[in-house]
Amino acid sequence: MTTILALETSCDETAVAVVRDRQVLSNAVTSQVELHQPYGGVVPEVACRQHLETLNLVLEEALSQARVFSWESIDGIAATCAPGLIGSLLMGLSAAKTLALVHQKPFLGVHHLEGHIYASYLAEAQLQPPFLCLLVSGGHTSLIQVRGCGDYGILGETRDDAAGEAFDKVARLLGLEYPGGPVIDQLADQGDPGRFNLPEGQVSLPEGGYHPYDTSFSGLKTAVLRLVRKLEATTAAPLPVNDLAASFQNAVARSLTRRALRAAQDYNLETLVVVGGVAANRGLRKHLGSAATTQGVRVLFPHPSLCTDNAAMIACAASDHFDHGHRSSLSLTAQSRLSLTRVMSLYE
Ligand code: KG4
Ligand code: ZN
Repeated sequence: MTTILALETSCDETAVAVVRDRQVLSNAVTSQVELHQPYGGVVPEVACRQHLETLNLVLEEALSQARVFSWESIDGIAATCAPGLIGSLLMGLSAAKTLALVHQKPFLGVHHLEGHIYASYLAEAQLQPPFLCLLVSGGHTSLIQVRGCGDYGILGETRDDAAGEAFDKVARLLGLEYPGGPVIDQLADQGDPGRFNLPEGQVSLPEGGYHPYDTSFSGLKTAVLRLVRKLEATTAAPLPVNDLAASFQNAVARSLTRRALRAAQDYNLETLVVVGGVAANRGLRKHLGSAATTQGVRVLFPHPSLCTDNAAMIACAASDHFDHGHRSSLSLTAQSRLSLTRVMSLYE
């Protein structure tokens, strides 16, 4: 059994968790959403200062929830070190390194996206690679072939906006608050997804045809903008926000479902896991869930609290690396960008 304490501060959530193998002992998260709301997005400087303010409190909460009363019971200390906002990453990373040094524990840096993938093991402890992972967050939209610990193949990515970013931008142009995903999800529940025909977005290939797995959401965002302008110019009635939200959400769900199921078929992968903040979306869960059942693909959606940023997923990834004998140097630095295919560069 391996018990890991992990810190996650890559963006606007200050999170600390204790995980024993694939069992969550504590998962403390403090969101900064309200702080950034007036700006309509995350302000890096504000985020990093706030991590500094709250990290100790969240750490204490995670340790007491997990009933960790002695450092003896912790085998390793981990922190997200890439990718993310550099100032924010540095807060959790420096704290984790300090704890590791003071308490003489092995230290492990974790790739944020690998953490998101590991949320699937927390959802189903028996899960084994290979499987397909659709990672849809505020900064990333990727289709990943999970082959093993630290071994990933990127099959598809977004060419422009990430899925979560598209939700946030469309919410803004509909006059809704930040972050847009949860609000659109809620409004879409009362809207008609078939009222407006919005494009899914395709990525053309130089040799002709379309990329089977890559996504593009900027055209969809522009289509919503044009539609809103047209509606505002032609009618005095209030914008049909519920129908717009439902139609937009439906276009995103269709786009992601088509690509994920095509990849599952082409790569002969029987299990698809969906992680990242957008995996909490109820429209996506419904659309993808029923299409996958028809195709005979098993879909796994971790609990929404494990889909959005949290430290339990980071601890779970660190615990697997720990068991494989991987350790990071205390001189490991934060990196704002790092491909998932370079995860093993974090370990000695
Ligand atoms: O994974 P995450 O918490 O942070 C990143 O690593 O980016 O994802 C945040 C993104 C935001 O863009 C937010 O609008 C979106 O996830 N999101 C949702 C929902 N909940 C969060 N998008 C659609 N539906 C939701 N229910
Ligand atoms: Zn994330």
